[in-house]
Amino acid sequence: NTYAVIMAGGIGSRFWPFSRTNNPKQFHDVLGVGESMLQLTTNRLAEICLQENIYVVTNKDYRELVAEQLPFLKPEQILCEPIGRNTAPAIAYACYKIANLNPDANILVMPSDHVILKEEAFKTTVLKALEESEKDDKLITLGIKPNKPHTGYGYIQFIEMGSKELKKVKTFTEKPTLEIANMFLQSGDFVWNSGIFIWNAQAILKAFKLHLGEMAEIFEDGNNFYNTQHEDEFITKAYSHCRNISIDYGIMEKADNVYVLLSDFGWSDLGTWDSLYGIGQKDEAGNVVDGDVMLYDAKNNIIKTPKDRLVVIQGLENYIVAEFDNVLMICSKDEEQKVKEFVSDVKAKK
Ligand code: GDD
Ligand code: MG
Repeated sequence: NTYAVIMAGGIGSRFWPFSRTNNPKQFHDVLGVGESMLQLTTNRLAEICLQENIYVVTNKDYRELVAEQLPFLKPEQILCEPIGRNTAPAIAYACYKIANLNPDANILVMPSDHVILKEEAFKTTVLKALEESEKDDKLITLGIKPNKPHTGYGYIQFIEMGSKELKKVKTFTEKPTLEIANMFLQSGDFVWNSGIFIWNAQAILKAFKLHLGEMAEIFEDGNNFYNTQHEDEFITKAYSHCRNISIDYGIMEKADNVYVLLSDFGWSDLGTWDSLYGIGQKDEAGNVVDGDVMLYDAKNNIIKTPKDRLVVIQGLENYIVAEFDNVLMICSKDEEQKVKEFVSDVKAKK
């Protein structure tokens, strides 16, 4: 009864120029291990459920990329969205479709762009969560111990329940301000939402009905079309009525049956250059290098350049040097939030 849904429709703009609208980071070998983030994620999930129960939700523009990278998927396992409407519709589509196939499905939903260093620990944690979600209607997320006041994550405050590992969530705050994130961190009883969710099909369908009623109605109407040749046609129409909202704002912040399983499996969301720097192998001077690069008096940089380009760098400190597909970006590591601005300026220039 176990199904897995991989969300792979984001454009990863904070990872520009490596991540591009026509080829976002989840399809790249970000870690330099010979497999893309999507492939790593899928292999990890194949240890947890049957390959035929793995679904990828992505934009229709990435259908071929997904099919190429995951040749064992049948066409019906690649769910294509006509437009990006954030994670709530993506999750609704996948979960309504799976529930239509198997009302007793127990579903793991996860992003395609996370690094997980301890595979065994991940598997044990997920199996535990799946066991819990099978029993009754819980919305379970995996919680990560925070180490800085990151404003790009959801923060979870939970209720201590003796020695029970699965804890009831008291508050869920998506992407707080820096001030509030600092408070959360100092108070010590908050964890990050990993964005990896576990629930049974009926639990998430009920949650949509309760908290995103309009969206529930849209996707309920698909019950005559899911898993038929009219699915694409239905979805195109459905998405034109869907609002743009993430599952975190739409459901997780509101629901009162959210639970968190505290986890430790070497997790990081590879959202930004600095996060890649954080997990990268550093040389003695603190540089993370992927490419044919000669360094002189260079410290604490992250450098990712094409293998067939010789790059020589002198006197550079704390910078991102990234080249991909005819774009070279050199940007101070402390100013990397500007990357989004570069992307929109480049679009405007075209
Ligand atoms: N199919 C599809 N369609 N996938 C999408 C879409 C969409 O419109 N938008 C985003 N995704 C995918 C992304 O590719 C990513 O794999 C995943 O959904 C999560 O989206 P992000 O945009 O990366 O979310 P986030 O990082 O800002 O926030 C979420 O993850 C954090 C942890 O990494 C939230 O769940 C936070 O609460 C959480 O802390
Ligand atoms: Mg993310």
